[in-house]
Amino acid sequence: MSRTLILVKPDAFARGLTGEILARFERKGLSIVALEKQTLTREVAETHYAEHKERPFFGELVDFITSGPLVAAVLEGHEAVKAARQVIGATNPLEAATGSIRGDFALEVGQNMVHGSDSDESAAREAAIFFPNLG
Ligand code: TYD
Ligand code: MG
Repeated sequence: MSRTLILVKPDAFARGLTGEILARFERKGLSIVALEKQTLTREVAETHYAEHKERPFFGELVDFITSGPLVAAVLEGHEAVKAARQVIGATNPLEAATGSIRGDFALEVGQNMVHGSDSDESAAREAAIFFPNLG
């Protein structure tokens, strides 16, 4: 068993798709270890996305992820990072497979509905940001 950190981003939350999205991860077989609605400060957002801080889209990414409430969750299961990213789909929604969250619900890379950690190391780092008391 391993864990991953997912975010139901502000676009998905505002569109009322939180339940639909969480259901897709549960149907895949991932279980919810922790779940919370949060609105991020710029400081937390910049820490979460630190790996992208030199990229040209960083400012817009931080604007977007702090633009409204989101739902953060830690999910657990076999190969959780890989499994969640399969459910989420490719970064660009126009390249994401139909049947994936981004493929089914999104049009633009800047509003692509969901975050999923990209490795076990990222998952541990990110889970500690959103759920400092999880252990
Ligand atoms: P990245 O970690 O590359 O994608 P993923 O979320 O699939 O792990 O990028 C983080 C987020 O940054 C991505 O979900 C959306 C945003 N982004 C842009 O706005 N423009 C871009 O060109 C890229 C690559 C990402
Ligand atoms: Mg990423």
